[in-house]
This record gives sequence, structure tokens and C-alpha cells, in this order.
Amino acid sequence: MKQIIRVHSRCLGVVLPLILAAILHQGFATVAPPTIAPTTAVPHKDPGRPERGTYSVTSQNGTACLLASMGLQLNITFKSVPQNKTVQDVVNLQPNLTKSSGSCESDTASLQLTTDADKTILTFVFTLNTTSHKYHLSEVSLSASWPDKEPVSVHNRSLNYMRGTLGYSYMCHKEQTLNVAQNVSINTFQLQVQPFGLTGDKFAAAEECQLDEDDMLIPIIVGAALAGLVIIVLLAYLIGRKRSHAGYQTI
Ligand SMILES: *[C@@H]1O[C@H](CO)[C@@H](O)[C@H](O)[C@H]1NC(C)=O
Ligand SMILES: *[C@@H]1O[C@H](CO)[C@@H](O)[C@H](O)[C@H]1NC(C)=O
Ligand SMILES: *[C@@H]1O[C@H](CO)[C@@H](O)[C@H](O)[C@H]1NC(C)=O
Ligand SMILES: *[C@@H]1O[C@H](CO)[C@@H](O)[C@H](O)[C@H]1NC(C)=O
Ligand SMILES: *[C@@H]1O[C@H](CO)[C@@H](O)[C@H](O)[C@H]1NC(C)=O
Ligand SMILES: *[C@@H]1O[C@H](CO)[C@@H](O)[C@H](O)[C@H]1NC(C)=O
Ligand SMILES: *[C@@H]1O[C@H](CO)[C@@H](O)[C@H](O)[C@H]1NC(C)=O
Repeated sequence: MKQIIRVHSRCLGVVLPLILAAILHQGFATVAPPTIAPTTAVPHKDPGRPERGTYSVTSQNGTACLLASMGLQLNITFKSVPQNKTVQDVVNLQPNLTKSSGSCESDTASLQLTTDADKTILTFVFTLNTTSHKYHLSEVSLSASWPDKEPVSVHNRSLNYMRGTLGYSYMCHKEQTLNVAQNVSINTFQLQVQPFGLTGDKFAAAEECQLDEDDMLIPIIVGAALAGLVIIVLLAYLIGRKRSHAGYQTI
């Protein structure tokens, strides 16, 4: 009789945490997003990840007033005249063939990137709100003409990307998509930008984008859950032990 009760409560002590573990595990399967990229057929050859370039704008007194480091990829849907159909093309900006220029004012700063070979002009305009001391990417314009393709010219003045605080740089390691127009989007990779408040030609401390923070959040959640699980198992074990002791005394 003693043996049976003892075995029973021990079993409960082990099985209960296992059930809990199974439930928690299932919960996590839904929390963690699938990281595998969709493998849809790409009509054009994939140019791969763009190379990271560093671009700067200097003010009249010769100091850098805007600094940006990023890989840039243009995603454009356009009509191909010889093919007589709409094609989607993904083009990487090559840093060593790209020239940067621009301007800095107290509440706006612009970065203009030009590549001679493709006759591509890409302009980013940042706006600083001088009351809230926050800046953001407010405007992007792109004009490009490739051989065999219709020229592209888009301008969007109502964007709200790369929101940062004056005195900090804005950083986003993960790929970020800037939707400029219905047929034009820009993918940025390993981005760090500071359009205002530069001191000494160097980036100030960085504010990380939400995408990067979410990435860091998952290991934190998993760690916390594991710690919680250990506590549950311990508690269940201790309760199980107490019960089995109680079992001895009543018999
Ligand atoms: C250069 O000009 C900027 C404003 O355009 C100013 O903030 C900065 O202090 C100046 N730097 C020097 C070395 O004068
Ligand atoms: C380009 O844009 C189209 C639609 O706008 C999208 O389906 C496609 O995944 C994008 N490609 C890349 C490489 O971002
Ligand atoms: C282009 O294709 C459309 C149908 O897809 C056809 O009606 C049109 O005649 C074609 N134009 C030329 C110039 O081939
Ligand atoms: C630019 O860089 C690419 C890849 O790194 C290289 O293949 C190409 O020769 C370079 N072009 C020039 C003009 O330096
Ligand atoms: C600047 O920020 C303040 C406070 O967030 C806001 O009330 C104001 O409308 C902003 N100004 C502009 C021009 O966006
Ligand atoms: C500008 O971009 C915003 C955000 O992507 C979009 O909602 C808006 O339709 C765009 N405007 C134009 C003229 O394409
Ligand atoms: C945008 O793409 C659609 C096809 O997806 C095409 O019919 C349209 O002409 C394009 N618009 C511009 C402005 O290129």
C-alpha cells in the first residue's frame, strides 16, 4: 500500500510539469514567426544582397552634417517596350559607382545619390521637428532610366520612415522596405543614418528600429519562459514530495 501511494505521487510530480511543458511549447510555436523566406519564383535574376555603402553630406564649413551607411536595393515594376509586358526588376546600388551630395539646413537635410551608368538619381529628404526634437525620412524621389525600359520618375513627399531623436542615429540591421509609390519600393539593408546633430564626422549612439528590437525580444521571451518552467517543475516536485510524505503519515 505504501509503495503504491508513493509511486503515484511521484508520478504526478513528473507528469504534471511535462504536460505544462507541452502546453507552453505549443504556445511558443505560435509566438515565434516562421523565419523561412517564401520561395516564390522570381522572374528576373536575384541580384542578391546589396553591398553596404557609406555616404556623407558636408556643410559649407567642411564638417559632415549628414551620414548614412546602408545597402540599397530598388524594386521597380515597369513596362518593358521590347518585351511588351510589365516586368518587375530588382536593382542593387553599387556603392563604388554611386556619388553622394546633398544639403543641410536647420530643419531639413537631403541626401542625393547618383549613378552615372544607370542615370539614376535617388534623393532622401529628412525633416526635423524642432519642438519635439524628432526627425524622420519625409520624402523620397527617384528618377532612373535603364536601357530597354521606360524611364521611372516618382516622388513621394508624405513618407514617415526612419523615425529618430535629435542627437542619436537611427539604425536598422534588418531589411526594411520603403514604399515610395505603387510601383516603386526601396529595400534598405544594415542601415545606419544620422541626418541631424552630427559631431565630429561620426555617428552618435544609435536608436534601434522596431524590427531589430523584435528580433531581440524572442530570445528574451524564450529565456523567461524557460526560467518559469524550471520554477514550475521545482514547485511541482516539492509539492509531490510533501504529498508523498503526507501519504506515509496517514498510513
Ligand atoms: C559647421 O557648421 C555647422 C552648422 O552648419 C555647425 O553646427 C558646426 O558647429 C560648424 N562646425 C565648425 C567646426 O565650425
Ligand atoms: C518587389 O515588389 C513586389 C511588389 O511590389 C514584391 O512582390 C516583391 O517581393 C518585391 N521584391 C523584393 C526583392 O523586394
Ligand atoms: C502587346 O501585348 C498585347 C497583349 O498582351 C497586345 O494586345 C498588343 O498588340 C501587343 N503590342 C505590341 C506592340 O506587340
Ligand atoms: C565596384 O565593385 C564591384 C564589386 O565589389 C567590382 O566588381 C567592380 O569592379 C567595382 N568597380 C569599380 C569601378 O571600382
Ligand atoms: C512637432 O511635434 C509636436 C509634438 O509632437 C507636434 O505637436 C507638432 O505638430 C509637430 N510639428 C510638425 C511640423 O510636425
Ligand atoms: C506615399 O507613400 C505613402 C506611404 O507608403 C503612401 O500611403 C502614399 O500613397 C504614397 N503617395 C503616393 C503619391 O504614391
Ligand atoms: C504600375 O504597374 C502596373 C502593373 O502592375 C502598370 O499597369 C502601371 O502602368 C504602372 N504604373 C506606373 C506609373 O509605372
